[in-house]
Amino acid sequence: MTKPLNIGLIGYGFMGRAHSNAYRRVNNFFELPYRPVLKVVCARSAESVKAFAETWGYESIETDWRKLLERKDIDAVDICVPNNLHKEIAIAAAKAGKMVLCEKPLSMNAAEGEEMCQAVEQAGVANTVWYNYRRVPAVTMAKQLIEEGRLGRIFHYRANFLQDWTISADLPQGGAGLWRLDATAAGSGVTGDLLAHCIDTAIWLNGSINNVTAMTETFIKERKHTISGKVEKVGIDDACAFLCRFNNGSLGLFESTRYARGHKALYTFEINGEKASIKWDLHDLHRLEYFDHGDEGKLRAWRSIHVTDHGGEHPYMSHWWVPGLQIGYEHSFVHQVADFLEGLGKGQPTSPTFREALETQKICDAVLNSAKSGQWTDVG
Ligand SMILES: NC(=O)c1ccc[n+]([C@@H]2O[C@H](COP(=O)([O-])OP(=O)(O)OC[C@H]3O[C@@H](n4cnc5c(N)ncnc54)[C@H](O)[C@@H]3O)[C@@H](O)[C@H]2O)c1
Repeated sequence: MTKPLNIGLIGYGFMGRAHSNAYRRVNNFFELPYRPVLKVVCARSAESVKAFAETWGYESIETDWRKLLERKDIDAVDICVPNNLHKEIAIAAAKAGKMVLCEKPLSMNAAEGEEMCQAVEQAGVANTVWYNYRRVPAVTMAKQLIEEGRLGRIFHYRANFLQDWTISADLPQGGAGLWRLDATAAGSGVTGDLLAHCIDTAIWLNGSINNVTAMTETFIKERKHTISGKVEKVGIDDACAFLCRFNNGSLGLFESTRYARGHKALYTFEINGEKASIKWDLHDLHRLEYFDHGDEGKLRAWRSIHVTDHGGEHPYMSHWWVPGLQIGYEHSFVHQVADFLEGLGKGQPTSPTFREALETQKICDAVLNSAKSGQWTDVG
């Protein structure tokens, strides 16, 4: 029998919507031991959180997350607020005995992340971090191909995450929608926001990273702060590039910027192995490009695999429409909820757990430290 799982959502912006959509749809497409119940949504403005609750079907609202955590009718807390609030809420939620689903990046830095890991581990509560790209079917399939040994020894991993929305010097920092430009709310710029995704996928697919050498740049040094109204120093990295060595001996090359005119969310990765290579592009997310050196010579070429088949061969797809019909960005969140609920039923953790996501945080710290020192830096 399907049991209810009462959700308390904190933050109703971009991710609040993506997660609410996932909770609402998941049981329509997956047979699961639990059914999320949209019990309460919390944000500071009663008027707008009420409108959100009506749109998405939440039963109640709160305007103080502490009140939400006191409620006995909440099983799981979903943290969809800016990064500087993750730690305090996650630790308090764990102490209140709630399961915690936290948006990425786990924390502002690895030290905070460690405290969060200890809190969920001591409380023994289920936890996961929303690195959703792992659950795009083509990316999950990349993992399967690597685990099947099809690439052989891996030599290179390269990834980019390119955007162009902060080029204007008139854009203020801080406040709703612009907290990503304010280091006190975001922790860092593209490193924690965008490269964290690339790093999570990379360590999932290619194993741990030993050391890094990085450079960052802040192109616009001062911006007006939305909250103080004053022109203030910009503390985030606008662009970051780093090289690294993976533990398996392969070399990594990563780049992210919000100053790549023409690119909105160009997340791509490519992995080159001894026997085969794979490529993936978020703008074409249902396709996995695959080159197999073992193919007959005259037919050897890059294949563009439309990851939409149903025979159980293409991950997650048998739950959706008919072969050949695509799914999109929002489905990666549905898949994460499905895996979380499945894991709960089996008493198994859902990757990435806080502890696994801490690894990404340590790499982000090493990248930022290396950019400051100009030195190769070990991942702590
Ligand atoms: N997994 C992904 O692909 C992905 C994509 C975007 C954002 N994120 C992460 O999700 C988190 C939220 O990002 P977003 O894009 O949804 O931001 P957003 O600005 O769209 O929404 C943030 C929400 O937090 C609320 N909020 C702020 N302070 C609060 C407080 N004290 N109490 C209650 N609510 C408060 C705001 O009202 C708003 O509803 C961030 O950690 C971000 O890094 C992840």
